[in-house]
Amino acid sequence: MLKRLLYLSLLIAASIVSIDAADARPSMVTIFGRMHVVLVHFPVALLMVLAGIETLRWRKREGSVDSTVAIIAVIAALSSVVAAAQGWMLAGDNLGESEYAQTIELHRWLGVSTTIVAVLVAIIALARQFGDSRKLSTLYRVFVFPGAILVSLTGHYGGVAMHGPGFLPIMPWEMFASPATEKPANPIPDKVDFWRDIDPIFVKNCYECHDGKEQKGELRMDSRDFLVKGGDGGTSIIPGKGKESLLVIRLFEGEDDPRMPKKKPALSATQIALITKWIDQGAVWPAKPTTTP
Ligand code: HEC
Repeated sequence: MLKRLLYLSLLIAASIVSIDAADARPSMVTIFGRMHVVLVHFPVALLMVLAGIETLRWRKREGSVDSTVAIIAVIAALSSVVAAAQGWMLAGDNLGESEYAQTIELHRWLGVSTTIVAVLVAIIALARQFGDSRKLSTLYRVFVFPGAILVSLTGHYGGVAMHGPGFLPIMPWEMFASPATEKPANPIPDKVDFWRDIDPIFVKNCYECHDGKEQKGELRMDSRDFLVKGGDGGTSIIPGKGKESLLVIRLFEGEDDPRMPKKKPALSATQIALITKWIDQGAVWPAKPTTTP
């Protein structure tokens, strides 16, 4: 059984290596976090398989259970734990109050619940290997079916977070939602607006070290001109070229320089994508509107 588990872990590792994490200098932590999207498919498939097997075995409550079931349950639990850890890292914690942030929170806590249930399922499945009793079988079913439901819900809201609510509206409350209440799905708008999308990120994460009072690295960030002028390292933004701009490069872990915001949690993938797109679109910085849209 241990040998088999080892082979399967190798298989998991191989599929993880095959993903493409090509982006501007992602750190190991970032790469680990992004593998979330690869690894989550294990618990999704395996918990469904376990529920399926249990449905087929419905009338056979007693008798020894194939050890394959226990192996699947253990892999489902292990991959859930790792996927949950990765998801936690990927999400970041500067999400704000947007609809996207709420979806991520829902996804986060459904994922944590799924993981707890998956671990219980694995423990009970293992226990059932040694002493098979009616009670354990009943207990196993008490968890394996909710596990399958929880993992579907988690996966669904993970999909909503990535692709937007209109992508696959299969939940009853989504199918019958009136289109009028549907908001734009994508957390990254087509046209990034400085005051709506970028200013809050700068205010919360950057200005304490890069504004009129404090200019770490000689960089002041509170106007477009200051950003173009840049700091010690030269210009911070190249309008039209987000990924090549120092401001974006410095948001990732680098070899020599500390990652920005210094000594604080990294910006989320969405925030970095917003800033990159803003620069790609010319880093437009209009006069401050009197009322924020
Ligand atoms: C706690 C203080 C602190 C915060 C917060 C902070 N920085 Fe910095 N930043 C520094 C220091 C110190 C330097 C200079 C040393 C260096 O280059 O690593 C620097 C340098 C930089 C540079 C390089 C400037 C140059 O020309 O060399 C960029 C770009 C930058 N920061 C962007 C940001 C962005 C974007 C944020 C917000 C997401 C941010 N920083 C938040 C402390 C901070």
